[in-house]
Amino acid sequence: MPFTKTPSLIARLQGELPSSGQLPATIQTAGCRWFAFRYFEEAHRRFGDRFTVYPIYMPPLVFLSDPEDIRAVLTADPAVLHPGAGSKILTPLIGKRSFMLLEEEEHRTSRRAITPAFHQRVIREHAAMLQEMVAREVAAWPLDTALALHPRLRSLTLRVILKTIFGEQAQTLDELHAELMSMLTITTSFLLQEPNLRYLPGWRPTWRTFIQRRTQADMLIYGLMSWRRAERGCEQTGLLDMLLDGEQADGAPMTDREIRDNLMSMILAGHETTTGELAWAFQLLAHHQPVQDKLLEEIDAGTDEEYLTATVNETMRRRPVFLFVIPREVIAPVEIGGRTYRPPVHLAGCTYLMHHNPELYPRPYEFRPERFIDETQQPRTWLPWGGGRKHCLGRHFALLEVKTILREVLATRRVLAASAQVEAPRWRSAILVPGKGGRVVLRRRR
Ligand code: HEM
Repeated sequence: MPFTKTPSLIARLQGELPSSGQLPATIQTAGCRWFAFRYFEEAHRRFGDRFTVYPIYMPPLVFLSDPEDIRAVLTADPAVLHPGAGSKILTPLIGKRSFMLLEEEEHRTSRRAITPAFHQRVIREHAAMLQEMVAREVAAWPLDTALALHPRLRSLTLRVILKTIFGEQAQTLDELHAELMSMLTITTSFLLQEPNLRYLPGWRPTWRTFIQRRTQADMLIYGLMSWRRAERGCEQTGLLDMLLDGEQADGAPMTDREIRDNLMSMILAGHETTTGELAWAFQLLAHHQPVQDKLLEEIDAGTDEEYLTATVNETMRRRPVFLFVIPREVIAPVEIGGRTYRPPVHLAGCTYLMHHNPELYPRPYEFRPERFIDETQQPRTWLPWGGGRKHCLGRHFALLEVKTILREVLATRRVLAASAQVEAPRWRSAILVPGKGGRVVLRRRR
């Protein structure tokens, strides 16, 4: 349901929430949508570590960048701050029964059924499959011409997550891959955020095509579930098996709908984020050749990955896919940083602004992986994976994939800039990616 604002509610909220300036909701929404980093930096410069945005159709969002405020949001009682509500814009993609949208005990139980498939030990078993797929794909990328990496990375990471989830023997993954590539183009559209637009004549065909693609993808997913059920008795291979055995909070088995929604959640979370972060990494390396030189030196020596790890961390700091962690919905009055927040407000820890606080990260606008080698980062102020009950459960998988792809590309190629500056960001559902497709030039170096 779209959020309905009444003048009295807005007056009450404006009286008690941190400032948002005088801009109308349409301009605030457009500012966040089209100039994300700049809008947040400017709001922070004017209003400090707490400010409010009033998006059209959505409840007001208070952004907090003081480390103590962020910690308070992430560790709050889940009955007081609901984290599932913050992912609602993804409902058309992942479905209402996705564990990502559930709260409290329901969220905990469903998440518990998924987590073992992404433990570090289990992830290591996928390393050989990943390496082989990456090597095959990267070998086909053209050299010496401007190349949009984002779509290529997306295709690759989607293939990887499908194999990880459904197992290497699963048939129809190519068909599912094609349907999902097409279905998920909706993530760049305003239609996900603004349900009221979906039935207007100019937008209706886009929405209808999305629904058709989703139906096709769902049929393939249900087909894979039936195939796997028929194979039961074989050794468990991955997430699909774990979900087929999964339980709801009341101990009943998960329904097919719940399994589908959870599979779709992991497919979505498991490739769009990694793709975006890799696209940013290639952008930043292309525009910072001395950093790339150091990384190439380490990769050529083949002895260590200290600088690679630091480069990945610095990419997630300087150009994160998540500008802020998943917003939490205020269910009951809660005091944070000396201020009381009440329903229907949502609170979001703005990790991007915290990671650019010069007291925590000196010279924050420089791309300088050394800061993750020479300086010690505190867990309290370094939160690229969020925290609390919602912290990223795919982080080991993400790191393995990001490092494997960077290493494979840079082992034989240098990445050169294809634009005067690092590309401006563009939203894809809840994340930010390079706005022009992450264009670079790849040149053979040995
Ligand atoms: C570089 C890539 C990635 C980044 C930067 C990232 C970051 C994040 C962040 C910031 C959150 C929100 C945490 C919060 O609000 O407290 C999150 C949640 C989540 N991530 Fe990741 N992530 C990445 C890759 C992945 C991958 C590869 C997977 C799956 C294989 C994954 C699965 C999830 C899931 C399922 C959630 C929601 C958890 C829940 O609702 O309980 N992520 N991630």
